[in-house]
Amino acid sequence: MLKVAKLKCEYLENPIGIGEIRPRFGWIIESDIKNVMQKTFRLQVATDDSFVAPLWDTGVVNSSESAHIEYDGPPLMPSTRYFYRVKITDNHGQESPWSDTGFFETALLDVSQWKARFISPEDSSAGKSSKGKFLRHEFTLDGEITFARVYVTALGMYELYINGKRVGDDLFTPGWTSYKKRLQYQTYDVTNLLKNGVNAVGAVVGCGWYKGDLAGWLGRRNVYGSQTALLLQMLVRYVDGREQIVVTDETWKASDSPILYSEIYHGEIYDARLEQPGWNMPGFDDSNWHSVEVVEYDMSTLTPQDGLPVRRQEMIKPISMFMTPKGERVIDFGQNIAGWVKFTVKGNPGDKVVLKHAEVLDAAGNFYTENLRSAKQRIEYILKGGETETFEPHFTFQGFRYVMIEEYPGEPSLDAFTAVVIHSDMEPTGSFSCSNELINQLQHNILWGLKGNFIDVPTDCPQRDERLGWTGDAQVFIRTACFLMNTAPFFKKWLRDLKADQLEDGGVPYVIPDVLGGSMGNDKLIQQDHSSAGWGDAAVICPWTIYLCYGDKRILKEQYESMKGWVEYIRAHAQNGVLWNTGFHFGDWLALDAKEGSYFGATPNDLVATAFYAYSTELLVRAAKILGKEKDAEEYSRLHANIVKAFQDEFFTPSGRLAVRTQTAHILALMFNLVPDQHRARTIDTLIALLNENGGHLTTGFLGTPYFCHVLSQNGKLDAAYSLLLKDDYPSWLYQVKKGATTVWEHWDGIKPDGSMWSADMNSFNHYAYGAIGDWLYRVVAGLDTDPDMPGYKRILIRPQPGGGLTYAEAQFTSVYGKIAVKWSIEGDNMIVDVTVPPNTTAHVTLPRALAETVNADDISFINCPGGAEAEIGSGNYRFVYPYKK
Ligand code: BGC
Repeated sequence: MLKVAKLKCEYLENPIGIGEIRPRFGWIIESDIKNVMQKTFRLQVATDDSFVAPLWDTGVVNSSESAHIEYDGPPLMPSTRYFYRVKITDNHGQESPWSDTGFFETALLDVSQWKARFISPEDSSAGKSSKGKFLRHEFTLDGEITFARVYVTALGMYELYINGKRVGDDLFTPGWTSYKKRLQYQTYDVTNLLKNGVNAVGAVVGCGWYKGDLAGWLGRRNVYGSQTALLLQMLVRYVDGREQIVVTDETWKASDSPILYSEIYHGEIYDARLEQPGWNMPGFDDSNWHSVEVVEYDMSTLTPQDGLPVRRQEMIKPISMFMTPKGERVIDFGQNIAGWVKFTVKGNPGDKVVLKHAEVLDAAGNFYTENLRSAKQRIEYILKGGETETFEPHFTFQGFRYVMIEEYPGEPSLDAFTAVVIHSDMEPTGSFSCSNELINQLQHNILWGLKGNFIDVPTDCPQRDERLGWTGDAQVFIRTACFLMNTAPFFKKWLRDLKADQLEDGGVPYVIPDVLGGSMGNDKLIQQDHSSAGWGDAAVICPWTIYLCYGDKRILKEQYESMKGWVEYIRAHAQNGVLWNTGFHFGDWLALDAKEGSYFGATPNDLVATAFYAYSTELLVRAAKILGKEKDAEEYSRLHANIVKAFQDEFFTPSGRLAVRTQTAHILALMFNLVPDQHRARTIDTLIALLNENGGHLTTGFLGTPYFCHVLSQNGKLDAAYSLLLKDDYPSWLYQVKKGATTVWEHWDGIKPDGSMWSADMNSFNHYAYGAIGDWLYRVVAGLDTDPDMPGYKRILIRPQPGGGLTYAEAQFTSVYGKIAVKWSIEGDNMIVDVTVPPNTTAHVTLPRALAETVNADDISFINCPGGAEAEIGSGNYRFVYPYKK
């Protein structure tokens, strides 16, 4: 049996509205035998699913590639559905049948196709308004419809309806991009929502990121504009071949809506008494609605949606309701999430439901909202009265585990409340578990860090008045994120914004989309508005990581100039082009070796900055080689060597002492290969000494922490890495787990051992940065990694590294080639390792503490290697059993 399954186009199953002119295809191979490699493939793309006259037929291609096959046929037409199918042969002489048929559909492809105008329900004095506004329009269709698509976007956020039905289930559309440069529009198939005769289209528009409050501590608002607006173009094709378009223009009408107020940080006020039944249906009397204003907007910014929409993902029922000592009635959902509460209520017109949201309770058990800073996270619903009413907010989300019911008519019952979890609609790809329940809870918390913060952009946190695309946090967490869910399309979009917002001199804003640029003047802490070491490096580390984890070369190609721009920015600001000792830096942010009350760790900026400079330059060299840019590769290799030398001259004494005695200094020097070879052992010993001096605890912040365990396990100190991981008193990963955390905290001491809180200034309980340890759990504890030379897990490196008293660990990961699994368990004196290698990949397996001749492994022969035994295997399921030397 040989089968081609799970066809994907641009990582998605049957996407519509794509903007790629050369979309890429991928598939999974299924087979019931071992050692399967694809030998040839044949791919057809056609405009109808009979494939009688394919538009593009690759013919039989000798290739083992089954991911990222680029379309190379005649130019694609806009607003067109294309079908595709694949068949393959393998190395055993088997031939698959044609796969099931997949499809993709193009968007408008060319700005000149837009006939619609942006229309606003507001005027230019509406900057302060946070209302949701209605827009509506009726139109007539005459004939049988075969194809109807709506292309739609907004300045602000929109929800769209046709003939009373909600179009799609995406949230917060059009998503958040660098609006002045890139404004996404969405494409929806509305064929089934339309009818012959009179139809109505309606939209609700709210502030969103476009004009609402942003960066609350700086009091920013109207960052992109002060007027919400809608742009919509509907294309209708009739059976008889006629086409008709419906567009937003000055004939549309507008009205206030029941949404009196909706702001991302602050929540929503909704007066159900103001509902206008039928407003989005044909025949509604809109004679008292007002006219709209046509507004100008640069149409060249329009781009088809290139990320993943935010959607509702999970529903969570509360676990309890209780009264706090202060007398607050609080619901506990048992999990810190990003989303909102959906509730039902019955009462009289004008009765209210008022909810507030918080992540934690304070030491006394009261509702704690101080860490939200200016974010109100408050929902107010005013009942229309009568039948049971159900409510969910529209243009806001909250970060919370606890909900305080401030008002509610009658006795609230628990089953009236459900938490709705929202995030970008990424495919879950990874799982990890082991014999230690605290580690499993940590893993759970890491996953929820991703769920709570991958909301169209990778945010720092989902609760306080921030929720911004902090580059440093994203860079730190991306490798872990790539295990948990397929984040390639998510980062593709965000990196396009990074590139768009990058400064001309290559500088990288702190947050992407950049909403801080030019506005940091009033900030107490930060004196610059772009280009901190460890933050700006996201420009290089993120595309590189996506390439590694998905084998996606195109992201390197797309981002290459941006990557290079960042390295050049540093070169221009570094002493002699090599030692980066200028500018403002966040440094090893939140490290515990900081001065009392400070956020800046003790490791000096010039060390941190030069270390990251070296690392980014090294990755740039690798990217240049992969893209065949030989001259760049040479040039930046030389630069890299010079940076390393400058680092060593500056920070290592001739006898090999690293002059900065902090954990992070030693970690970065080791991780980025900045240590003179002859002094490696000493550097590691000093790192261990620094650990021991601190009772085996870390003192590291955002930049040192992610690499700590890696540096130890890579340098023969696996035991030390495990004891660091398994520490459960303050400060440690498991300390917060033991304190009941359900997500990862921003601070090691978010809640201190005595129950008091770190300063409310900056104390998020859902910040994924320290969750970067997840990567070590997958790659080292379970031992599931990719060969960087055959990225995307085309060649898998399986190398479990048991320790810490664990008796088993297992990880699964759905790669672009299919499911990979590793499980090891120690049973009695034996080690059992179960492995799944997907077809069309190979794996290099290293069994720890094994003697090759004692491995029971069916037909695989192992050879001895340092630390154990190794073998190269093909696809299939395997079990290896051997006596485990203690
Ligand atoms: C954010 C961080 C971010 C940092 C920059 C904070 O306010 O929450 O996670 O990286 O500022 O130092």
